[in-house]
Amino acid sequence: MRILAWLSVLVFFAKVAKTQHAIIPAPLSYKENNTSFLLNEQVSIVGYDESFFIQQKIEAITHILPRGENTKRVILFSLQSTDSNSQSYWLKVTADTVFISASCKAAQLYALHTLLQNFNSKNNTFIGCEVIDKPLFPYRAMHLDVSRHFFNKTIVKQYIALLASLKMNTLHLHLTDDQGWRIEIKQYPLLTQIGAWRKEKDGSNYGGFFTQDDLREIVSYATLNGVEIIPEIEMPGHASAAIAAYPFLSCHRNAIEVPNTWGIKNDILCPTDSTLQFFKNVLNEVCEIFPSKFIHIGGDEVPKTQWQQSLFVQQLMQEKKLKNYTAVHAYIIQEIEKHLTQKGKRIIAWGEVMRGYVSDSVVVMSWKSKAAGNKATKLGKQAIMAPRLYCYFDYPQNIQDKKNGKWMVYTPLKKTYCFTPYSKHLSPQARQFIIGGEAAVWTEHIATEQQLLHQIMPRLAAISEALWSHQKDFKDFERRLQLLLNPQ
Ligand code: ACM
Repeated sequence: MRILAWLSVLVFFAKVAKTQHAIIPAPLSYKENNTSFLLNEQVSIVGYDESFFIQQKIEAITHILPRGENTKRVILFSLQSTDSNSQSYWLKVTADTVFISASCKAAQLYALHTLLQNFNSKNNTFIGCEVIDKPLFPYRAMHLDVSRHFFNKTIVKQYIALLASLKMNTLHLHLTDDQGWRIEIKQYPLLTQIGAWRKEKDGSNYGGFFTQDDLREIVSYATLNGVEIIPEIEMPGHASAAIAAYPFLSCHRNAIEVPNTWGIKNDILCPTDSTLQFFKNVLNEVCEIFPSKFIHIGGDEVPKTQWQQSLFVQQLMQEKKLKNYTAVHAYIIQEIEKHLTQKGKRIIAWGEVMRGYVSDSVVVMSWKSKAAGNKATKLGKQAIMAPRLYCYFDYPQNIQDKKNGKWMVYTPLKKTYCFTPYSKHLSPQARQFIIGGEAAVWTEHIATEQQLLHQIMPRLAAISEALWSHQKDFKDFERRLQLLLNPQ
């Protein structure tokens, strides 16, 4: 009896151990089935158009290239015909076949990443299991500021692959800011000839930009990886680099340099027809490169001094009956939004836009806290939550890391893990308007790929689970993280 009792305890623990997978983000349901699928070169990929891409992904993790032609031992992809917005997938690993069935192409890749995280390199097998999974939030993004420091297309592609491996589905690419304009615009070549370069205090010239071909290459790589890129063109603030290239965009029209210091700048766009038309033309080219439904148009941190000093702005306010400078800001956002709506796009803008009028089709990205986003949802507008105290990965995550700015707050892994886009007081009806969350990396103090990786890992894993998983367990997350970072 005693031995049996012990055995049953051991069997119980064996079962527990077997369901202790190493998957991040944790799936909705996971069951092992006492089989395993041996991966070797004879295995074939069936049912996925770009099978070369699947082969490459598998080889990168397992060092085995499955290039079999026969259909005896297969990794079999299919699409479910229903529920295409759910991003759900089903994965079943048996001795002969790995079945992947998903609601959309990106979700087939989520299943692939789950499979790869369940690889046992000791015997080259995928652990036999059945996984049913879908994300908590449809929008799961990571941002990258390529203006303050430029990161080339090779680094951006690696960044995309990293996001994809954790089932993040969006890269928000912050392409323009005061300290550098980073996207080639054919109609306005000075944006990159002048605006992409700044003279540093030591006299050196710092800069760089993406050509349109570079960006197309990045977009197609992201698409292969199931990641959508949302470009951001900042306006009316954070626009000094554009003004340095084309001074008529400001109200003062004076020549300025691309700034080489950080912080909020007074040089902002003037709401003239010519400036608005300029940015509409810029956005026309942006829309040609990026197929995303959303375009981010900034809208944050707009000091109003130059508008106060501008006769033109005073006249515009009278003519258009704009009561204050917040209304002038809203006027610009509306003009740009109308243009982008005609092109079949929707805009995302930072939380500050909630101070003035915004149409219901604008998605509000709440960054100072969740307040602007909550306000938006109560008014029936969609929101993305990126509150800085949880989601700003340029803030230090280790006690010993340097705080590079007074505004930065220690943001350890657990803090990010505990992030939820919801606020306790928000009604179920308002919650429906929250489409997800995003983590940001501002790069004033991040100049190299190594530093970038140091800032985002492992917090990227934490936000991925925060936005994907239905059940949270920080202790178990830490265990899985160790396995993921130190695979067997
Ligand atoms: C922001 O951090 N200024 C959006």
